Amino acid sequence: MGATAAGIALLMLLCLGQAHGDHHYPNGVGGAVKEKKCDYSQGRWVYSSSYPLYKSSDCPFLQSEFDCQKNGRPDNLYLKLRWQPTSCNLPSFNGIDFLRRNRGKRIMFVGDSLSLNQWQSLTCMLHTAVPKAAYSLRTWQGLSTFKFPAYNVSLMLWRDALLVDLVNKNGTRVLKLDSINSPKPWKGVDVLIFNSWHWWLHTGRQQPWDVLQYKRNTFKDMNRLIAYKLALTTWARWIDSNIDSSKTQVFFQGISPDHSSGSDWNEPKASCRGQTRAQVLSHMSKPVYLLNVTSLSQLRKDGHPSIYGYGGKRGNDCSHWCLPGVPDTWNQLLYASLIHEI
Ligand SMILES: *[C@@H]1O[C@H](CO)[C@@H](O)[C@H](O)[C@H]1NC(C)=O
Ligand SMILES: *[C@@H]1O[C@H](CO)[C@@H](O)[C@H](O)[C@H]1NC(C)=O
Ligand SMILES: *[C@@H]1O[C@H](CO)[C@@H](O)[C@H](O)[C@H]1NC(C)=O
Repeated sequence: MGATAAGIALLMLLCLGQAHGDHHYPNGVGGAVKEKKCDYSQGRWVYSSSYPLYKSSDCPFLQSEFDCQKNGRPDNLYLKLRWQPTSCNLPSFNGIDFLRRNRGKRIMFVGDSLSLNQWQSLTCMLHTAVPKAAYSLRTWQGLSTFKFPAYNVSLMLWRDALLVDLVNKNGTRVLKLDSINSPKPWKGVDVLIFNSWHWWLHTGRQQPWDVLQYKRNTFKDMNRLIAYKLALTTWARWIDSNIDSSKTQVFFQGISPDHSSGSDWNEPKASCRGQTRAQVLSHMSKPVYLLNVTSLSQLRKDGHPSIYGYGGKRGNDCSHWCLPGVPDTWNQLLYASLIHEI
């Protein structure tokens, strides 16, 4: 499990870091930042009496699968842990400041249910900061928009687990690793936070495609790490040619570790990791900031809903995270990078 996360983290670093070979930021930071910044990815979890940052009961729109307390989780130490980076402090989260800084902006999470997890966390953090401010929440054709009209800030979620095109050809679901042509609402958004990983591992009935296609070739299956690399390269090209980095900030959420003991984490072959190192030649010219949440989340096996997700009805959830919980820290990292980069 750890080895896979490390393999992917390495791959992402290579994909995202390519364009910035002459910069050496610890977090794989893009070109815009001048000074050397703190590495938030290294640290430890410490007890804090002022945590959690909000109560789930103060957040009426929180989906029940993340609301572990409401689902009967009896312990609460997992709510009281704050991330302490080794060599600096994370700025404490100031929701009003976040809203003011982002006035008139659209912020969009793009990815799978872990994006949903982080989006829900951020909307809860902000709503509890301005409990009297009106908000609206609408979902239309796969796009959910949470809006604070007084601040003119929209926090959006676009569910897109694989990022590249998944098309239906005569009843066959074809995943096109080299194509992002289907309509994507990402364009023109001010802040984009992408995430994609977990669905690349699914096999059997959970696999969202029937065949994979790359250039003119069709594959029944292939090494998933390679498929992911090809798709991420396609995504990187899309970003390079469609994003105006004077307007849009792009983040990539690192792998959120899955602590299930099942076979989801296919151990990548050592040779594959070596190949990744040699082969990934991304041509990204736009800065992308990696939110490296992997290691800090890895330490929080206790943060998953386990049997207290989905109202306790749907087994053992070791992929998502209870809210309040670990994704709140991901958003603190997002906040920290937004305030340092602006
Ligand atoms: C993420 O942070 C961990 C801990 O500092 C580090 O070991 C890992 O290399 C980082 N991953 C990337 C892709 O930068
Ligand atoms: C709100 O922000 C949008 C951009 O997201 C802008 O087009 C619009 O003019 C703003 N509205 C007000 C009332 O400031
Ligand atoms: C779909 O099926 C029809 C008839 O079976 C065939 O003519 C057509 O070429 C197929 N299209 C694709 C994209 O495979």
